[in-house]
Amino acid sequence: MTLEEKLGQMSQTGFPHLLSDKVKDEIRAGRWGSFYGQYDPNLKAEMQHVAMNESRLNIPLIFGADLIHGFRTTFPIPLAQSCSWRPDLVAQAAHFTAIDAAIEGIHWTFAPMMDIGRDPRWGRIAETLGEDPFLSGTMASAMVQGFQGQSLSDPDSIAACGKHYAGYGAAEAGRDYNTTWIPEPLLHDVYLAPFFAAKNAGCASFMSAFNDLNGVPASGNAYILRDVLRKEWGFDGVVVSDYEAVKELIPHGYAADERDAARKGITAGVDMEMVSRTYFENGANLVNAGQLDPHLIDESVRNILRLKFRLGLFDAKGTRIPQRAKASPDALPLARELAEKSFVLLKNDRSALPLSKSINKLAIIGPLADSPRDQLGCWVADREGPAITPLSALRDRLGESHIIYAQGLSNSEDESHDGFADALAAARSADAVLIFLGEDAALSGEASSRSQINLPGAQEALVDELSKAGKPMIAVIMAGRPLVFEEVAKKMSAILWTWHPGAMAGPAITDTLFGDNVPSGKLTVTFPRNVGQIPIYYNHMNTGRPADDPGTAEKHYSSRYIDVDYSPEYPFGFGLSYTHFQYSNLRLSASQLKMGGALDISADVTNTGKIAADETAQLYIRQLAATYTQPVRELKAFTILHLQPGETKAAHFTLNSSQLSFHNAAGGLITEAGDFQAWIAPDSASGLQGHFQLIP
Ligand code: NOJ
Repeated sequence: MTLEEKLGQMSQTGFPHLLSDKVKDEIRAGRWGSFYGQYDPNLKAEMQHVAMNESRLNIPLIFGADLIHGFRTTFPIPLAQSCSWRPDLVAQAAHFTAIDAAIEGIHWTFAPMMDIGRDPRWGRIAETLGEDPFLSGTMASAMVQGFQGQSLSDPDSIAACGKHYAGYGAAEAGRDYNTTWIPEPLLHDVYLAPFFAAKNAGCASFMSAFNDLNGVPASGNAYILRDVLRKEWGFDGVVVSDYEAVKELIPHGYAADERDAARKGITAGVDMEMVSRTYFENGANLVNAGQLDPHLIDESVRNILRLKFRLGLFDAKGTRIPQRAKASPDALPLARELAEKSFVLLKNDRSALPLSKSINKLAIIGPLADSPRDQLGCWVADREGPAITPLSALRDRLGESHIIYAQGLSNSEDESHDGFADALAAARSADAVLIFLGEDAALSGEASSRSQINLPGAQEALVDELSKAGKPMIAVIMAGRPLVFEEVAKKMSAILWTWHPGAMAGPAITDTLFGDNVPSGKLTVTFPRNVGQIPIYYNHMNTGRPADDPGTAEKHYSSRYIDVDYSPEYPFGFGLSYTHFQYSNLRLSASQLKMGGALDISADVTNTGKIAADETAQLYIRQLAATYTQPVRELKAFTILHLQPGETKAAHFTLNSSQLSFHNAAGGLITEAGDFQAWIAPDSASGLQGHFQLIP
């Protein structure tokens, strides 16, 4: 290959709107290794034909696209999916996405996103798999398996791209693209951990992030890209930059100009440059001037060609004629099931839910009851795809005569009170009020950070108005992030948190409201009481004056606020059911665990209510003293138990000593003997506590 051809492979650009002679000539000349976006299948076919038949080396193009939570069928947003705690369903959803993509000639998706989300102001928390490294890694791995199947060369398989490597979720102040400072132990144990899991699941590529990480922007950061990803983890796939992230090394203050940015990007190990053109325009000059080792270019090109070979693009898959995929009817039941399993019941006073199946008149109110675009969430690949709204599903179920609908507000940000009178009249005429609150889709996702995370617009005022009717009120809240809504919560008999549930929001919500689905989702991100508590997450360190220590709790000089409780509004792992579960009889197979050995930990979980339901039992541990302080709790495993009324089953876990290791300040993985606590728990703030020792 010529140097130009190599640099061409290392370049990706957006799809052209039409295939001009200029673009054809460029493809013939090997100017591009990849295009991204989801355009016309015919265009793709023509472009691939030119690349594979009319270029000197006949190297196929690789087509990438952002398929984040579905393609022709939109599944719940990733944060919602994680709240299902069901990697099997998450993998199936990714597989459906891959099938649609493969039909359309898309070979590569820029998913899963596995940034740790500890700050609900950050709009992209919607795309994360929550705040926990273990759960994020588990869910990300499931997505990788779903996208990539048994083998990348299978006709239905597409390459996954783990993003954003690394630390992007730690953006200061929750402002998108902002700087991150992450000390070494935290970087490895929390922010890199899901990426390591995804790499071990075979993730074919990673995307270098936008953020500055400890003074070296991630897309020029040889430490994370070469030392950790390549050398320590043995990754041999592709690293693609985020959108113009190589060029952005300049405003970061890391590169002087585009030539410098190209040199730093390639040297750091970013194989392919997305959209900006610094590699192609400067690579040859840099090599000829002796400022860039040509072997680094060869290495990147090998990584890229290896992926193209692995995907089978040089074979039949490369020449397959793409077609437009249609939403598969088989995907809809899965979209419904995954939505149902991801809903989190936050409140249910006096069993307000499920609703009586013989309810006579239900008032349906709120900006999100009938907003198909908004229920789909922040990253929708097909805006024309199916979307059944709650209003239409409730009409189908109850019949028009049992429903009275008044929107109240035209969208979540609407400040006008013009619709309030109709909404109040509707509430007055009904037996119960179902109010659909939350955020429009555009309020979360990329570049959609908020400094206040209340219910926007006049939603709180609408709730105040409706409370005048004196009817039981039930809120269904659709959002892309945790919100602060304490005052609204007080006025509700029940709150069902649905996130943005995707195509089948309507049927899934309706099933749940009437008890055909029993909520089992558990939060994978902490809900704060107010913005001032952020960052707030369950796996924090303890401080020397912990707020919840019985010895210091009543003391003024403990780690708390004087104007709000220190604890979250809803903790990580929390979620109610229509029944109740009792945890009892915690058992550890031994009081000591030898390094290299394993310990069995179990507890009984009993369904004490009248409805069969699922419960996600969670195993947490804490090391009480170590060379580097350890979090007050860390999730190590979970299991889902299906329990009939009155039934008891054991939640059983095997804990290996290797699960107790952590990173030191030099980035080394160590395990230290000492005392541990262990919990089997329904959430991160409660549970049965035991104790064991790790011994050499
Ligand atoms: C920027 C986003 O950060 C990234 O997630 C996405 O894959 C690229 N744009 C391409 O659209």
